[in-house]
Amino acid sequence: MADRWTILAVPLVCLTLLGSLLVHWPTLLNTFQRPKPLSNPRPKLKSTISFNIANMPTIESTIPVNVTTTTVLIWYWAFGFNQGISPNVCKERFGIPNCMLSDDRSLFPKADFIIFHNRELITGQQRLPLQLPRPPNQGWVWFSIESPPHNGNLRPFAGMFNYTMSYRRDADFFMPYGWLAPRLVGPGMTVEDFIPKEKSHLACWIVSNYADHHRRTQVYNRLKQVINVEVYGGGAVNGRRVASEDLLPTISHCYFYLAFENSEFQDYITEKLWKNAFIGGAVPVVLGPPRKNYEAMIPKDSFIHVDDFESEEELGQFLKQLAGDRERYTSYFKWKLNYTVTQTSNWLVEPECRICTKLTTLQRPKVYRDLQSWEWK
Ligand SMILES: *[C@@H]1O[C@H](CO)[C@@H](O)[C@H](O)[C@H]1NC(C)=O
Ligand SMILES: *[C@@H]1O[C@H](CO)[C@@H](O)[C@H](O)[C@H]1NC(C)=O
Ligand SMILES: *[C@@H]1O[C@H](CO)[C@@H](O)[C@H](O)[C@H]1NC(C)=O
Repeated sequence: MADRWTILAVPLVCLTLLGSLLVHWPTLLNTFQRPKPLSNPRPKLKSTISFNIANMPTIESTIPVNVTTTTVLIWYWAFGFNQGISPNVCKERFGIPNCMLSDDRSLFPKADFIIFHNRELITGQQRLPLQLPRPPNQGWVWFSIESPPHNGNLRPFAGMFNYTMSYRRDADFFMPYGWLAPRLVGPGMTVEDFIPKEKSHLACWIVSNYADHHRRTQVYNRLKQVINVEVYGGGAVNGRRVASEDLLPTISHCYFYLAFENSEFQDYITEKLWKNAFIGGAVPVVLGPPRKNYEAMIPKDSFIHVDDFESEEELGQFLKQLAGDRERYTSYFKWKLNYTVTQTSNWLVEPECRICTKLTTLQRPKVYRDLQSWEWK
């Protein structure tokens, strides 16, 4: 998805363009569609809840032991995707109590937090309500799930935001693209039960935003000299198009999935890993932040990092060997016995509701005097 948002970095984005983007990239729409009820609901929230595993940062910390309702105001909907929420949505969908989420601007004077999605600010489609008297305890939240090159110039926002909400672990409101939740598997289940049976392709890559200057393109071009890479995605890469409902079945036939990010920044680990590779059932070959960064989020023996190899030749040879060594290949799936992948269900509602679970650990007051530097650090 992040790739598609890249397009919007063009300063003068008009709604017509946006409309056509949506037609052509149904996955983007999927991400923002009103979510279906969770088939596997989260455990009921008690006083504390945590998805903390090993060294993974917590997604949720303490629920406020506080009967005061927190009001979270969405100043405008990202990309205009109005979610038509009821004020009780946080309780209904995520079990988060005392948390009112609304897009009713008349709540400005009493809102505890106001969410501003970055894209509309940098394109000039929306502006901060600087003309309104800002209550001193109100927190303005900068929200983006894009990597720094796609967030525009943030210098004009120096000193305006109190909090950040992003995939960065050091954001005030950390909301990753995905995370692992502990699970207990039934007796008798073995790791083989988690590996799709029919593997017909060695390595697969689905790419929607193909650009020669991306490092991933260069790695792909060299890797395909060594091994066969099935590439999907049309456009310049000239691969087969794959409909969104065929995405995971397609990947399940691959031993390895190239989970190559469009840019390399700390914590920028997207659905290419969580959904395409992990849920699709292929071992991820990642290109993105350094291995250590991945290891803070996922077990170290669950993925292959391109930087582990001197060359694409070496990487390609390794993948060939690994695919032929059942025992070793299987070991990359061991984590599935203990963890399950969770993804953010709806970026426009879920992180906003989760603000209410972070109140006790929040620094107050806080101001981002130099958001641009924070973003690029
Ligand atoms: C309850 O929440 C309000 C607003 O979020 C906060 O100002 C207050 O300090 C909280 N009280 C306690 C006991 O945590
Ligand atoms: C992972 O799950 C397996 C099978 O349920 C269990 O035997 C093992 O102890 C678990 N490992 C960890 C680290 O929890
Ligand atoms: C938020 O930032 C504004 C502007 O810098 C500041 O005046 C206010 O005290 C801050 N509020 C909180 C809750 O940190």
